[in-house]
Amino acid sequence: MNIQENEQLQACLQKVKQKNMRDAENGKQRYVYIQTFGCQQNEADGEKLRGMAEEMGYRYTTDAEQADLILLNTCAVREHAELKALSIIGNCKHLREKNPELIVGVCGCMTAQQKRVEQLKKGYPYVTFTLEPASLHLLPVALCRVMEEHRRRFFLGDDDGEAAEGVPITRTHPHRAYVSIMYGCNNFCTYCIVPYVRGRERSRESERVIAEVRELVASGCRDITLLGQNVNSYKSDCDFAGLLARLCEIPGDFLLRFMTSHPKDVSDRLIEVMAKYPHRMAPHFHLPLQSGSDRILSAMNRRYTVAHYLGIVDKLRAAMPDITLTSDIIVGFPGETEEDFAATLDALRRVRFDMVYSFLYSPRSGTPAAEREERFVPDEVKSERFARLLALQDEIALAANRRYEGKTERVLTDSISRGDRNMYSGRTASGKLVHYPAEGEVIGQFVHVKIERADPYALHGVIVE
Ligand code: SAH
Ligand code: SF4
Ligand code: F3S
Repeated sequence: MNIQENEQLQACLQKVKQKNMRDAENGKQRYVYIQTFGCQQNEADGEKLRGMAEEMGYRYTTDAEQADLILLNTCAVREHAELKALSIIGNCKHLREKNPELIVGVCGCMTAQQKRVEQLKKGYPYVTFTLEPASLHLLPVALCRVMEEHRRRFFLGDDDGEAAEGVPITRTHPHRAYVSIMYGCNNFCTYCIVPYVRGRERSRESERVIAEVRELVASGCRDITLLGQNVNSYKSDCDFAGLLARLCEIPGDFLLRFMTSHPKDVSDRLIEVMAKYPHRMAPHFHLPLQSGSDRILSAMNRRYTVAHYLGIVDKLRAAMPDITLTSDIIVGFPGETEEDFAATLDALRRVRFDMVYSFLYSPRSGTPAAEREERFVPDEVKSERFARLLALQDEIALAANRRYEGKTERVLTDSISRGDRNMYSGRTASGKLVHYPAEGEVIGQFVHVKIERADPYALHGVIVE
């Protein structure tokens, strides 16, 4: 963003803010409702949308009926995600009928696709504006335009500019925070829409990342996740391992974690840095494998082999024997045979992941894999393979979690259970979900929990002194 654009942005922000303040003085407080879909990167973007809206005088509400501004922060990674977002956008119709002044902004990855923008323009007349992820910081400009010109705006901004800095953030939790270190992706895995909707890789300056982490730690944050589609290709005056080493030197009682890593870019130096700072680096590595068949990995343009992947796993476990390993798997990529799928199951048996996020392949238009319709795996075959994968992984995850039984773990408490007001949930340093009864103010606190029972997805225990 150049100086002129920044001045324009600030002017817009002030205009919207002044209008909202005047309205509030006249007894009409303005409210913003935000719903975020998709990955952690989008969650982090949602916190920026909220930060900007609050800066402009909107008060946050979790009740869409009360809102004057609705922001839907969409995801496009699978068809299901888009359909869900479209259905929620559709619900805004009746809200708009009740409140003709309601502004509905659709943000996020879906709106970086021309065809979706056209669809929203034509089929969803109550959508006031769209804002793609690379233009997120222009929320004040979008609002100012629709307020002044009384017409709808559809932004399809440029995505190769620098990462915008200084955007206000309202964090959901004071004790656990996301810090984006890079945006975009250059990998073009053949199934994936992300490089098209998030643009090319842009890394933030290391000093800015370090300053943000320092501030978070000073404000009492205990667990910080560095975010990027491929954090291993972070590049500024240092690489990712270099950045981590500098962040690990920041004093305080906090843990650092990161996601996501691409297996082709995991360096020995990164593993060394993780092992060197055991009290700072969370013993967890999320490393998407996607498939256990070299033939499919090649068709996915992943640029590593299963043997290379297993080599990284060996190195990680040699350096950090108790490390938690998690992964993403796509079932039913075009052309996947029973033999390819058996190789994936075999890889799961070999690695023994703590947790696997598995997805049915979903064709994304514009990506190379989606054009090979003749090779699509029939839905019933995909579902059957998916069920077999889940059954195997449940067994493996249960065995992995059982290893925690009888042990006492330090757990950072996140939330209270909806069903039972005495039950709380938190996570171990290794990222395991733990449920336990507690009393008093424990959210945001570390507690020691003796693990009594494990299931494939979580640990259950009691607090001990
Ligand atoms: N940058 C990260 C995350 C990308 S999206 C990475 O490279 O790992 C998160 C996961 O969604 C991917 O790891 C992949 O398993 C899954 N995914 C992406 N596109 C998909 C598609 N078209 N169909 C099914 N799953 C998909
Ligand atoms: Fe998508 Fe591959 Fe980039 Fe991950 S690395 S965001 S899967 S293209
Ligand atoms: Fe979805 Fe965009 Fe994340 S497509 S998974 S919200 S990067």
